Amino acid sequence: MQLKSVTSPRWLPHALAHFDEVLIDHAHCEKKAAANALSLLQAFPEVPGLPAQMARLAREEASHLAKVLQVMEGRELTLGFDRGDPYAKGLLQLARNPAKERRLDRLLIAGIIESRSFERLELLAAGLTDPALKKLYAELAKSEDGHQKLFVRLAKAVEPEAVVDARLDVLLTGEAELVERLPLRAAVH
Ligand SMILES: [Fe+2]
Ligand SMILES: [Fe+2]
Repeated sequence: MQLKSVTSPRWLPHALAHFDEVLIDHAHCEKKAAANALSLLQAFPEVPGLPAQMARLAREEASHLAKVLQVMEGRELTLGFDRGDPYAKGLLQLARNPAKERRLDRLLIAGIIESRSFERLELLAAGLTDPALKKLYAELAKSEDGHQKLFVRLAKAVEPEAVVDARLDVLLTGEAELVERLPLRAAVH
């Protein structure tokens, strides 16, 4: 999928200047990605291929979480409580309520979050100077790119391609407006 906006050029310098905060937020993001994969498995077991794919995804996101926690440990950072993510919350507000529409929207929103994460993690990979961190962020970015494609494939397994493409277009417009509206944070989103 193609996002409808690019991240403000002010984000990367801010994120690099407060990288410890970004790491903590990033760990929470990976934790939520793992939890969301299991939540989608719980909610939509009927979708062909979804249970096995979400089980694999949960494992992969948990391994990302472990890697970020390891970096944090090296810097003597503690995770602390999740202070919430206004970006993910804002996106979920765009999900419609009837069951069929909600299923499509949850899959597409999960894909959009992966897609924005891919963009931001790639920016971090380019901006970081420590070779080990640069490599880690490049690897994680690539993985999130694969995840956004997976969610679009799953959406197309439950709804006709034209319906998916039209809804994705609407949600991507909503996402771009949300990103524009939210204050710049030392966080992945
Ligand atoms: Fe991840
Ligand atoms: Fe992911």
